[in-house]
Amino acid sequence: PVVYYNGEFIPSSHANVSVEERGTLFGEGVYEVTRVYNAHPFALDEHLERLLNSLRGIGLKDPQTLAAARELKPASAQLLEIHNLAEALVYWQITRGPAQPRSFLYQPNTRPSVLAIAYPTQPINTAGPPPTTTATLLPDDRWANCWIKSTMLLPNNLAYNQAREAGFGAALLQRHGLITEASNANAMFVRDGKILTHPDDGKILNGITRQIVLNHARNLNIPVAEQPLPIAELNTVDEAFLTGTTTHVTPVLAIDDQPVADAKPGPVALQLHHTLMNDIN
Ligand code: PDD
Repeated sequence: PVVYYNGEFIPSSHANVSVEERGTLFGEGVYEVTRVYNAHPFALDEHLERLLNSLRGIGLKDPQTLAAARELKPASAQLLEIHNLAEALVYWQITRGPAQPRSFLYQPNTRPSVLAIAYPTQPINTAGPPPTTTATLLPDDRWANCWIKSTMLLPNNLAYNQAREAGFGAALLQRHGLITEASNANAMFVRDGKILTHPDDGKILNGITRQIVLNHARNLNIPVAEQPLPIAELNTVDEAFLTGTTTHVTPVLAIDDQPVADAKPGPVALQLHHTLMNDIN
């Protein structure tokens, strides 16, 4: 496919990615995954804002870099046009760029690498029921700055693949006995009609979908408590569900082979699923 790389639209095989890219050598990069439904990008400005925050979080805050990040929006529109895509996942990534020699110290005149790739995807059936999944609980051994959407995804990847290899659909993460989020989605629980979800205190990625779903909940007069669920209280919840750009609202029917309530999508998740699907339509 044609990708956007450093201001050019080029076949991905022609993209000149340096072996000395600091994104690869040091994991110095941030990213976003955005979704296009029926030719309409979803919450694109929110994703761009978060990308700019992530860039500031890794010290890439010079005006040229922030301006280059803002170019990702029109560049994505052009990628969709080039490939004639109406349904797509669009990946954005900015890394610190190639620098010689390999050094912990930032090198002067390092120009960030700016990438966008549009992946074709299947349309979703907005009228249908939500997908469902199962999860296993694993330690959240990520760093303390999970609010930065960093490309440094090794802990997320290890957890997710461990979960999948053990036959589960998702990895739920816990730190100090509290559930933070999932490896690549946010986690919400419902108890006595109230949504419980980990606060946006830097220890989770504050998902764009999370924010949209919590707004919907408040508009629907569903009480929300941004407080983490202790794992010791997992057996007291009536519902569990994940939210994310690739997850939408996905009820979790069992956690480590223990059914969540009656192992059926619950009313709160279903209502929020339908409300989110309405936004997409
Ligand atoms: N991940 N938490 C983590 C750790 C994530 O990686 C993601 C998204 C989310 C949900 O955020 P949002 O609603 O903004 O998509 C929460 C993307 C989809 C990914 O890495 O593929």
